[in-house]
Amino acid sequence: MPRRYHPILVALHWAIAFCLIGLLIAGMTMLAPLANNDPAKLMSFRMHMALGGVTLFLLVARVIVRLLTRTPPRLPTGNALLDRLAPLTHAALYILPLAMVFSGIAFASASNLPDAVFGSGPMPESFVHPARAVHGIASTLLMALIALHIAAALWHQFFRRDGIMTRMWFGAR
Ligand code: HEM
Ligand code: HEM
Repeated sequence: MPRRYHPILVALHWAIAFCLIGLLIAGMTMLAPLANNDPAKLMSFRMHMALGGVTLFLLVARVIVRLLTRTPPRLPTGNALLDRLAPLTHAALYILPLAMVFSGIAFASASNLPDAVFGSGPMPESFVHPARAVHGIASTLLMALIALHIAAALWHQFFRRDGIMTRMWFGAR
C-alpha cells in the first residue's frame, strides 16, 4: 500500500481547494449581494463562470485519477463512529462541488446568462430557476463541510500526530 496519495491527485486536491475557496468567497461577497443590473457584477460573473468551468474540468480529472490510482490505507482515529464518518465526508467533498458546478450551469443557461456575460444578450433580471436554490443550499453545506474537513486535518496533524498532511503532499510513495 502506498504511504501517500498519487502526486497528480495531490496536485488536484490543492488546486481544487484553491478554486473552491475562491469561488465560495467571491460568490458570497461579489455575486449574491449585488443586483444583476449592477455593472460591478458583470466582471464577477465572468470570473465566476470561467473559474467554475475550470473547476469542473479539474473535478472530473480528479475522479478519474482517484479511480485509477491506489490510495494509502485509512488512518484510524481510535473512534468507530469517526472512522465511519470520514469516508462519508470525503464522498460529500466530491459530490457537493459537482452539485455546485451543475446547478450553476443549469440556472445560468436556463436564463441565458452565458450570452449576457460573454456575448451581447440582455442580462436576466433575477434567477428564479430551482437550481438557483440548490446552488445556494449546496454552497452553505460545502462551506460547513470544508470547515469540518480542515478541523479534522489539523486535529490529526497536531493532536494525534499521525502525519496526515504528508499523505496529501508530494514525496516518495
Ligand atoms: C477546500 C476544499 C477541500 C476539498 C473539497 C477537499 C477534499 C478532500 C477529499 C475529497 C479528500 C479525500 C481524498 C480521497 O480519498 O480521494 C481529502 C483528503 C485530504 N484533505 Fe482535503 N479538501 C479540501 C481542503 C483541504 C485543506 C484546506 C486541508 C488542510 C488543512 C486538507 C487536507 C486534507 C488531507 C490531509 C487529506 C488526506 C486525508 C487522508 O489521508 O485520509 N484539505 N480532501
Ligand atoms: C464549484 C463551483 C462553484 C462554486 C463553489 C460556486 C459558489 C457560489 C456561491 C457561494 C454563490 C453565492 C450563493 C448564495 O449566496 O446563495 C454563487 C452564486 C452564483 N453562481 Fe456559483 N459556484 C460555482 C460554480 C458556478 C458555475 C459553473 C456557474 C455558471 C456557469 C455559477 C453561477 C453562479 C451565478 C450566476 C451566481 C449568482 C446568483 C445570484 O446572483 O443570485 N456558479 N456561486
